[in-house]
Amino acid sequence: MEKDMERRQLIMVPGPTNVPDRVMRAMLKPMINHRGPEFKELYVRVLENTRYVFQTKSDVALLTASGTGGVECAISNIVQGANKIVVPICGFFGERLRDNIVAMGGMTVDVPVEWGKAVNVYMIEDIVKKEKDVKAVALVYNETSTGTKINDLRAIGEFCNEHDLLFVVDAISVLGGDDLPVDDWHVDICVAGSQKCLMTPPGLALLSISDKAWSVIEKSTNTFYFNLKSYRKYEKEGQTPYTPAIPLYYALDEALKMIREEGLENAINRHKICAKAVYKAIEGLGLAPFAEEKFRSNTVIAIRYPPSINDSTFRELLRKKYNVVIAGGQGKLKGSIFRIGSMGMITQAEILQVISAVGMAMSDLGHELKLNNGLSAAREVFKEAE
Ligand SMILES: Cc1ncc(COP(=O)(O)O)c(C=O)c1O
Repeated sequence: MEKDMERRQLIMVPGPTNVPDRVMRAMLKPMINHRGPEFKELYVRVLENTRYVFQTKSDVALLTASGTGGVECAISNIVQGANKIVVPICGFFGERLRDNIVAMGGMTVDVPVEWGKAVNVYMIEDIVKKEKDVKAVALVYNETSTGTKINDLRAIGEFCNEHDLLFVVDAISVLGGDDLPVDDWHVDICVAGSQKCLMTPPGLALLSISDKAWSVIEKSTNTFYFNLKSYRKYEKEGQTPYTPAIPLYYALDEALKMIREEGLENAINRHKICAKAVYKAIEGLGLAPFAEEKFRSNTVIAIRYPPSINDSTFRELLRKKYNVVIAGGQGKLKGSIFRIGSMGMITQAEILQVISAVGMAMSDLGHELKLNNGLSAAREVFKEAE
């Protein structure tokens, strides 16, 4: 059975996530000319539905790139006009955002945050007051490496708006799975990835771009492939500047239609209920989440290992025996936590399966957990939500 590559695994990593059959099938449509009318029709619809998930009336862009390409695009298009950027670092992806800004020629002012917690608006205010010439704040809304989220995102957006700072948000592991109305919260550039809550295969980055961001982008000269001005120019013709990954556009089109059918608010609510069920189940099992309670993410659940459990042995057993794939820790958390991606096409069925598998694999390895307590705690959350 192990050699049977067709056997479908339950993918519960924080992206890529399980892709609905409807979305997979959409990719089988015939190829089209990306400079022809069929593409134009598809592109206009996908952009419109992308605006829907960002809850924006402003521009959006779709890049044939993974999430990091989207982050690099955002940064490289503003770094000339906004080269002093405040970056809270709450985990591995905050560090990566900082490194990306530095690589693009920007100067960062780091705000170190203890891993497991999140930055708040007062910390941002303090640093902006102390530093001179800050032009932007860039941060990771949902820190995938620690399973935390920034509760003050709206307040930080309002602060940036009042102080004429650009606000750049990496929402790669959360857009579609938690609240993020980018216009209302004054987010100038927001970046998302296709392979997370949007239940599409990896390979597309989605960006929202405010008018305030455009006023800086218009002056930039140091981009080519990720030049947002080119994207805006070609969009007028219903095209992208370079050849897009057409099958992925088909997939995203279908996935966004599904989100519209469900309703964004319902999809977000479903993510919240599933996350709550996982947290309750984890505690029922007798395990401890990594993130401090008030900062816990609604899409990525990070859990501390009991001392007797080895990360790679555990996750290999989970994959081989129970057919469930979860993620380990990153950076300095490697080996000490595991992470469950609770995003995209998730329901009670997937949550109960992953909880059972975690409980059984740990007991196989000699760490007996209260499996029934875990499962009934999760079921209680789903029953309440019915
Ligand atoms: C918050 C965050 N930022 C950036 C990335 C990088 O995205 P990608 O691997 O699609 O380039 C990830 C991927 O997990 C992420 O979770």
